[in-house]
Amino acid sequence: MKITFCCTDTKAEPWLQGLAAALPGAEISVWHPGAPQADCAVVWAPPQQFMDEQSGLKALFNIGAGVDALLKLRLPPGALVVRLDDAGMAVQMAEYVCHAVIRHFREFDAYEADMTAGRWGYRKPRLRSDFPIGVMGLGVLGERVAKALAQFDFPINGWSRSAKVIEGVRAFTGAEQFNDFLAASRVLVNLLPLTPETVDVINKNTLARLLPGAYVINVARGAHLVDADLLAAIESGQVAGATLDVFRTEPLPAGHAFWNQPRITLTPHTSARTLRDESISQIARKIASLQRGEVVAGIVNPARGY
Ligand code: NAP
Ligand code: GLV
Repeated sequence: MKITFCCTDTKAEPWLQGLAAALPGAEISVWHPGAPQADCAVVWAPPQQFMDEQSGLKALFNIGAGVDALLKLRLPPGALVVRLDDAGMAVQMAEYVCHAVIRHFREFDAYEADMTAGRWGYRKPRLRSDFPIGVMGLGVLGERVAKALAQFDFPINGWSRSAKVIEGVRAFTGAEQFNDFLAASRVLVNLLPLTPETVDVINKNTLARLLPGAYVINVARGAHLVDADLLAAIESGQVAGATLDVFRTEPLPAGHAFWNQPRITLTPHTSARTLRDESISQIARKIASLQRGEVVAGIVNPARGY
């Protein structure tokens, strides 16, 4: 079994060592133009040249959950695309989103400002029932996030393509129930994959349908959000604020209006990081399963886009 490694912005050596330890007998090397054909690839944002040259690949293992960048390329014919399936990301996403929701709901940023200014003062407790949370995307990450938020007794709505039954979550399905989902939600959490159907999904119409004084948490992809529409909705008061982890251009360019909007909290695409050891174990397990002819979780449907 020959494995080629082609991950932009990733230090290769620890991955090669980890993969070699988890897959004794496999030949693992870093891809370079003209490298010999491999059977499997471990990839993150590879160039088109990689795909064109490695036309005999049987499987591509993406070292992230989102495959939007990969699916923009012409893939080797017949190659399976396998995404990371949790691998330690779901718990990180749950803690990030719960933190963002609770920080907003309990007004901790305002308390922080008070304390910094030497002011001792109380704010009126808010009602959880006034803060229904809508989670868009109830997949590996969205379901975990929705269940974690439900632990804090917020009313939880969830929206997905296919019907779901998740304890503590009021499930809405498909385009026909999208507006009802929005109208029932004050906080909007985005955990959709980026596909032709979901690009720009958080736009002026979406934001206008949320309960007034809404709060937006985008942890999926920057291209889900129309930046100018969010800024306008914050200006108008329809949206009280946002926590954004992902952006159309990353790093977020200097001078972008998000940097100067105090109601927006920014983080640098860090809500759920790829954890190397968990990812290597998962990829090695899946390679072994595929060699035995078994079905593995996390196979991407390129026609669906995720
Ligand atoms: P997933 O398991 O593929 O789940 C995707 C969910 O979105 C599914 O519930 C799916 O519905 C739903 N969905 C897809 N298209 C839809 C549509 N048109 N309308 C309604 N629902 C739709 O993905 P995941 O592992 O949870 O990850 C979600 C995304 O998070 C990734 O694609 C990635 O972009 C992002 N992410 C970000 C970070 C970060 O650090 N910021 C880290 C990891 C992942 P069905 O269940 O019916 O198929
Ligand atoms: C990160 O954004 C991922 O898709 O895993």
